[in-house]
Amino acid sequence: AASLQDGLAENFSAEASVEKRSKDGPKQNESTVSITVVGASGDLARKKIFPALFALFYEDCLPKHFTVFGYARSKLTDEELRNMISKTLTCRIDKRENCNDKMEQFLQRCFYQSGQYGSEENFVELDQKLRENEAGKLPNRLFYLSIPPNIFIDVVRCASHHASSPTGWTRVIVEKPFGRDSESSAELTRRLKQYLTEDQIFRIDHYLGKELVENLSVLRFSNLVFEPLWSRKYIRNVQLIFSEDFGTEGRGGYFDNYGIIRDIMQNHLLQILALFAMETPVSLDAEDIRNEKVKVLRSMRTLKLDDVVVGQYKGHTKGGKSYPAYTDDQTVPKGSLTPTFAAAAVFIDNARWDDVPFLMKAGKALNTRRAEIRVQFRHVPGNLYKRNFGTDLDKATNELVIRVQPDEAIYLKINNKIPGLSMRLDRSNLNLLYAARYLREIPDAYERLLLDAIEGERRLFIRSDELDAAWALFTPVLKELEDKRISPELYPYGSRGPVGAHYLAAKYNVRWG
Ligand code: NDP
Ligand code: BG6
Repeated sequence: AASLQDGLAENFSAEASVEKRSKDGPKQNESTVSITVVGASGDLARKKIFPALFALFYEDCLPKHFTVFGYARSKLTDEELRNMISKTLTCRIDKRENCNDKMEQFLQRCFYQSGQYGSEENFVELDQKLRENEAGKLPNRLFYLSIPPNIFIDVVRCASHHASSPTGWTRVIVEKPFGRDSESSAELTRRLKQYLTEDQIFRIDHYLGKELVENLSVLRFSNLVFEPLWSRKYIRNVQLIFSEDFGTEGRGGYFDNYGIIRDIMQNHLLQILALFAMETPVSLDAEDIRNEKVKVLRSMRTLKLDDVVVGQYKGHTKGGKSYPAYTDDQTVPKGSLTPTFAAAAVFIDNARWDDVPFLMKAGKALNTRRAEIRVQFRHVPGNLYKRNFGTDLDKATNELVIRVQPDEAIYLKINNKIPGLSMRLDRSNLNLLYAARYLREIPDAYERLLLDAIEGERRLFIRSDELDAAWALFTPVLKELEDKRISPELYPYGSRGPVGAHYLAAKYNVRWG
């Protein structure tokens, strides 16, 4: 099969990337980047991809010469695409000057090509349009597959045969889901590799582009105070928590085929866990970091059904307002057993983490929206102040919280003397609240990831062996849940989730934070 050419792919060092992100923008000699958003009429493209591209343009981070192409079956003109995009672009900071001018400049660089996803002919037409806009410059091409996974291969085949860059690099960003289990994921990888090299495939997990997730390595490896404590010797348990205060509204069709374990745990939470638990990489090079992530994923114990709790939200009325059950969604089959909540206890069988429970919890339609890492430390041996805490010594242990969203923060719970003449202690926070410390707005995860893909930085994208290791961990339990038709525990929309999650935590002497 024909392969896309990745001729000029560069592997930027962290330093080079910093330089490239400076106000002057990337330095390139008359090359151009064409960014084709396949599935441009869709939800993700409108809500995330086009706004992220505009934000990058606004910040002067995109190359001097670039064009954005929308590709989908919907019949749109360039003008109609621009109208559609303009509705979701925002000047995120009101006081910015010339935002409307910038928006107009950006929109003038956006074009649309309508076509079928498996039509070679339509991709020849796309290629023609790309060439016209590349106007003789060295062409680099980035394709963003913002489409359902059943058409990934059609698109990659057609793009590979007819719309890859003749002389520059060609890269393809692939959105999740990357399969449903080990087998289908391996098959997807095998088929993608008929047309692309691994270096050209940018598997996106947008949680890796979140500021606090990227900061994990900085926190660990550039502060003396954390890394020495980062092991079974001092850490009692680690919790990875994702919760949303809304249901699957509008995405029930997709969701029912996957469920929360595949939607959130196998990717977003597991990626965070890998960065949290990996050994120090040899360098900040993408391959060194990904090698360490793979190692830790491969050291994990395969998840057992006993260590998993699943739930599904049910309808609920609160304050006169009624909230729907998951199965009320028209696109969800009646009687669906798909979990909208899951909790799991996972273990890493290596010297650093032997027997430390890593508890994951992910759920939709819960009482809050948050994503957090909570690290609970062990008791202080021979604590002189033991009696100040009564019988519940767990309450006296230190806890480090990394709040990924919302209100990004890192805080450490410490025991402290309450000022006064008596010896009373309380738990107080050493608090790094991002909004108070950093005035600069935090970029959206998609901005960072798109820029990395344009710059050829692969550090935050998932390599195929990482993906295999991630699926190996979850596939047996997913199969067992489905084969045994395990009924999820129902929990009311807007509640804290099923009580089963508390029993699971208690089994390992853990209390959810
Ligand atoms: P959509 O369902 O909105 O699909 C995107 C576009 O693909 C549609 O506008 C449609 O364009 C085309 N399309 C949809 N269904 C089919 C079909 N059955 N056959 C052929 N073409 C179809 O998806 P999203 O934009 O929500 O998501 C895109 C990808 O990103 C998916 O893989 C999704 O899982 C993933 N994702 C989405 C997130 C989100 O928040 N939306 C979050 C994370 C990942 P047209 O009809 O014009 O061709
Ligand atoms: C996506 C999931 O990957 O992440 C969605 O498919 C989920 O179900 C979303 O809502 C959450 O992303 P964020 O960035 O809003 O936390």
